[in-house]
Amino acid sequence: MHLPVDTKTTIKLVQFTDTHIFADPDERFDGVDTAATLKRIIEFAGTEEDWPPHLALVTGDLVHDPVTKAYQRFYSLFGELEVPVCCLPGNHDDPDCMDAHLNSGTISTTKIITAGNWRILLLNTWMRGTHAGHLPEEELNWLDTMLKKQSQGYALICLHHPPVSIASPWMDAMALDNPDDLFTVLDRYQHVKGLVWGHIHQEYTAQRKGVALYGTPSTCVQFTPHADRYRRDDLAPACRWLQLGPGNEINTWVSYADME
Ligand SMILES: [Fe+2]
Repeated sequence: MHLPVDTKTTIKLVQFTDTHIFADPDERFDGVDTAATLKRIIEFAGTEEDWPPHLALVTGDLVHDPVTKAYQRFYSLFGELEVPVCCLPGNHDDPDCMDAHLNSGTISTTKIITAGNWRILLLNTWMRGTHAGHLPEEELNWLDTMLKKQSQGYALICLHHPPVSIASPWMDAMALDNPDDLFTVLDRYQHVKGLVWGHIHQEYTAQRKGVALYGTPSTCVQFTPHADRYRRDDLAPACRWLQLGPGNEINTWVSYADME
């Protein structure tokens, strides 16, 4: 996908993640109506200064159970946004089902977006039968090729599973299982400036060798940082704003919706 902006433009992105939409509208995630919280955070984002963004990213666990009906509900919730929406899979998704149902109108499962001075690359860390993530060799080779081909500008990488420990044992047990393979590729390129993910349902920020690392809270239930096992946090549904500046700078912050 190509966004028609010039190289002097600051690219405005909003990230929604772990939307966990159910096929059945009466199902709940720990008592939470995930479609209602998604509507709330989308509505809230629409009142913020950076709306409309150039692009919305949805970084996995789009649905709770990967069936057609759930993706149709997801599609109708995001179809009203009037900005391009690019989606990548999480452990609760089915990449084939996503590809089949999320590639029309403004919604897409494209893996690469070019915009001004930036390239945004979306990785698939989905692995059948587990909540952990993995980057297979073909995905790593694809990333390496895309980064090698980029002769100017900067890159932002998006994925579902964290490639670093977040010091929460039950979450770390289902992180990306081959982060060293990812970092071996990234360390070859100076123009990779940021990595952003979902999965952890909480905010996380770090730096590694000049690359900014960002984990983003969910649009539904949040998890308590540093917990040994599942523990729900009482924070509101959230999204992350990212501004990708023409001179390689990334400005980012997380917005939590006010809940009535
Ligand atoms: Fe999730």
